[in-house]
Amino acid sequence: MLEKRKPINELLKKTQKNVVAAGWVEKVKLMGTSLAFITLRDRTGKIQLIAKKDFKDFDLIKDLTNESVIIVNGDVQESKQKSGEPELVIKELEISSLAYTPLPVDIFGGTTGFDKRIDHRYLDTRNPKVLAIFKIRSKIFKAAVDFFDKEGFININTPKLTEMGVESGAGLFVVDYFGKPAYLAQSPQVYKQLGVIAGFERVYEIAPVFRAEKSHTTRHLTEFTGIDMEMGFIESEQDIIDIIEKLFQFIIQEVNKHCKEELDLLDVKLTIPKKMFRITMAEARDILKQHKKMLKEDDDLDAEAETILGEHFNKQGSEFVFVYNYPWAKRPFYHMKPANDPRGTKSFDLLWNGVEIATGAQREHRLEIIEKQAKEKGIKLDDTYKEIFKYGCPPHGGIGLGLDRMTQRLLKIANVKEAVLLPRDPDRLNP
Ligand code: 4AD
Ligand code: MG
Repeated sequence: MLEKRKPINELLKKTQKNVVAAGWVEKVKLMGTSLAFITLRDRTGKIQLIAKKDFKDFDLIKDLTNESVIIVNGDVQESKQKSGEPELVIKELEISSLAYTPLPVDIFGGTTGFDKRIDHRYLDTRNPKVLAIFKIRSKIFKAAVDFFDKEGFININTPKLTEMGVESGAGLFVVDYFGKPAYLAQSPQVYKQLGVIAGFERVYEIAPVFRAEKSHTTRHLTEFTGIDMEMGFIESEQDIIDIIEKLFQFIIQEVNKHCKEELDLLDVKLTIPKKMFRITMAEARDILKQHKKMLKEDDDLDAEAETILGEHFNKQGSEFVFVYNYPWAKRPFYHMKPANDPRGTKSFDLLWNGVEIATGAQREHRLEIIEKQAKEKGIKLDDTYKEIFKYGCPPHGGIGLGLDRMTQRLLKIANVKEAVLLPRDPDRLNP
């Protein structure tokens, strides 16, 4: 039967005969022995199935459990119900898989705690509201790919097994590589720089990033999906900010255009950002001071500072703010310092409604200065790393964004893990 299957949203469009629908049984309502209603759900929607007395396999319906998978053939007719939605009168029914009872999670009632929901995630996601998060995440992914492609970026895939750390500062997972230690990449940082130097000029990658950090917060994962880009021939970090502004305008425009139903279901309204603020770290400190939050010159923004800045700029009509000129003390050795400011860097963070979603910078491309800066940070660079910068390296910079956090901020979800199909944190490696 499946070769004639149509998605439910198409069946709901008009009356039609001899059509096949397939999906999960959400509810069975038996009215005596001669009439039954089944709510059938697939990835596109729900339809009411009706089995009447003359349906030859009526007995099969008596055993149907919620979340069983069935395939039906029948006629779509005008609604006879209050809902006004077309219904499908069953002529044939095939049970593909009878679901065991009871279900381990309450898919629609909202009484199951978060951990248990993740333990049985494949059931949790059958709630259309949860599925909507992943449909939107998928569109963000596609919009990012389309945007980078349009702007002349080349997609690369970089190694996740490495001999050395690729992002200084971030915690490393060690794996056994044939008796030698290897590390899971905490970012594609050096490889994307290599991509620029390799003559690609503009590269991007959307891939897993590993961080061995025991953070139990609503924004941290030990494995997340990074959207990374790097571009050559820039004059300053402002060139990266320019392109990232356009990226977010494009992503939000695309999600708005293609995910109307999902946004309605999640009760989220999006507006395409016209203007994003750009402030220096010194300006950020002044704003924070007005809100009685004191930061010293070499301090990073902590979560509280980010929240305050988020609220401050929200009041001025922007969900986004770029904070640039981060202190050298808090940035990795490869960030470029401004010519006349040894304590600063040509780097920035992007906050979306008060949470960091991206870090970017112009990188130092002159080997002698890279070596000097590494020394200042007490880092010994190996020869393979240094060689990359020896034979013609354009001025360049880039950014790392978190797809998980972007989805979370876009949909105003409380915990980043809600935006990840199978999240990884210090306490979870399963399923
Ligand atoms: O700020 P991060 O650590 O920056 C880098 O990895 C640099 N190589 C980027 C660059 O090109 N300069 O990570 C970038 C982004 C963060 O802003 C955040 O959105 C996300 O990755 N991120 C995490 N998301 C979830 N869980 C974590 N533990 C994350 N750590 C970073
Ligand atoms: Mg960062």
